[in-house]
Amino acid sequence: MSMDTKQKMNEEVQKRRTFAIISHPDAGKTTLTEKLLLFGGAIRLAGTVKGRKASKHATSDWMEIEKQRGISVTSSVMQFDYEGHRVNILDTPGHQDFSEDTYRTLTAADSAVMLIDSAKGVEAQTKKLFQVCRMRGIPIFTFINKLDREGQNPFDLLEELEQVLGIRSYPMNWPIGSGKQFRGVYDRKMTQVELFQGDDHKEIQVRKVSGYEDPIVKEIAGDFFYDQLVQDLELLDVAGDEFDFDKVASGELTPVFFGSAINNFGVQTFLENFLKLAPTPSPRGSSAGEIDPLSDKFSGYIFKIQANMNPAHRDRIAFLRICSGKFERGMSVKHVRAGKDIKLSQPQQFLAQDRDIVEEAYPGDIIGLFDPGIFRLGDTLSQMGNIEFNELPTFSPELFCKVTVKNALKHKQFQKGVDQLTEEGTIQVFRTIGFDDMILGVVGQLQFEVFEYRMKAEYGVDVILQRMNYQFARWIIDEQVDPGKFRINSQLVKDKNDHYVVLFESEYAMRSAMEKNPTAQFLENAP
Ligand code: G4P
Repeated sequence: MSMDTKQKMNEEVQKRRTFAIISHPDAGKTTLTEKLLLFGGAIRLAGTVKGRKASKHATSDWMEIEKQRGISVTSSVMQFDYEGHRVNILDTPGHQDFSEDTYRTLTAADSAVMLIDSAKGVEAQTKKLFQVCRMRGIPIFTFINKLDREGQNPFDLLEELEQVLGIRSYPMNWPIGSGKQFRGVYDRKMTQVELFQGDDHKEIQVRKVSGYEDPIVKEIAGDFFYDQLVQDLELLDVAGDEFDFDKVASGELTPVFFGSAINNFGVQTFLENFLKLAPTPSPRGSSAGEIDPLSDKFSGYIFKIQANMNPAHRDRIAFLRICSGKFERGMSVKHVRAGKDIKLSQPQQFLAQDRDIVEEAYPGDIIGLFDPGIFRLGDTLSQMGNIEFNELPTFSPELFCKVTVKNALKHKQFQKGVDQLTEEGTIQVFRTIGFDDMILGVVGQLQFEVFEYRMKAEYGVDVILQRMNYQFARWIIDEQVDPGKFRINSQLVKDKNDHYVVLFESEYAMRSAMEKNPTAQFLENAP
């Protein structure tokens, strides 16, 4: 690589921030995403993203089921520039019925923004998504939203982060008043007060101060809120965690921002602080050790495959996270698993559903590749020879259905559909011992509906799904596995690779099976 190319590469990597926003439905993710895009000039009108989410899907060519339910089943990627940074936001559906896909998308992010509703605190979905980020040890930033409404006490919210999620926090700013009395925030890092001008005139005023003892603060907050504020801030200074960049980087300490996304309050400072603290594209583990993003050779892996984004074309799009080197349209890369070279001729970049052809891209960027059926989840594409990126994590299914085909004559199409849809990785398939019945396992209920719908729409097969009572799947490793031992509240099945898996109806059933089989190992995921 010449000096010039090297420097350019370095600059491009340094300016990139690739992150995902995680939250429970209704916390305000769509709203926050939209405000961030507005700052980046990626969209001009408020309501653009929101409009997509609402029932009007006129311009959208996403799956029919999304239209029917008015939700986003699939995760997309949004890119914009802000003050010299190139920002990639990975959208993870916050809906109840999320899937394994949502989890996997998080592997493509270098950091996460956790959005919390100040009235509701840490909710179920946030907890699940948080745990996946935790596993990866990526930095997690917290935005506590809806401060314009009556919410929980900020200290209680921080306590909840620690109790429920086990993460310590550092408030970057602190609210002055709340709900209808919400005056603004005191920025602890930049020692300034940001004033929230209320519902009608939403403009935001920033006043630089010397500290919270500054008389200006008192003047702004009024006596009552001032006393409260000083008390709170003193307590934080004395008893709160110190800001420790290394701990933020390793995901042990989360910087917390208070604000109101819909009023655009606290969003800009959040973005600016976030861009300063969030990591640049990080090295990724592979069969050849860690791959440095600055390497002159291109590499990346596929973390998501989305079928039929455009039903008119029946296409599949494989989402690739670039891990190293520069990507150029038309370049040849090795498809490592298939053992052959392929040409990347029509790569796409995304802004929600608008797709542009991309000419070049760098580590941290996500590109969409047209997939004629050659890619699988976790596939590595590279110009480095036979390296393979570490396997994507799989997640233990929690919901199960027995599936049969309505018309036995359609068995061939049925099998083909099941094979292809399970290959996309959102559904796992199991077979019962002896009877060879087929059982599907998923992490989100919607996947069953999507499965049923797509089997009909794409393969012309009507399926019958019967919900089963199981809640847990554990891969069992033992010298000898005896199906007779798993008859009560449980069942022994095999996965697609003929590994034994036990399905349990309850945690109790699972625990007692573990106690009764002390020599066996019970794994949450396939070995
Ligand atoms: P999601 O993507 O996480 O599901 O949340 P979304 O942004 O759609 O926001 C959920 C609801 O919360 C929306 O109201 C939205 O307007 C509201 N919201 C977002 N940020 C704030 C905030 O800072 N303060 C207050 N008070 N509300 C906020 P909705 O009534 O469900 O939809 P809409 O009628 O506003 O479109």
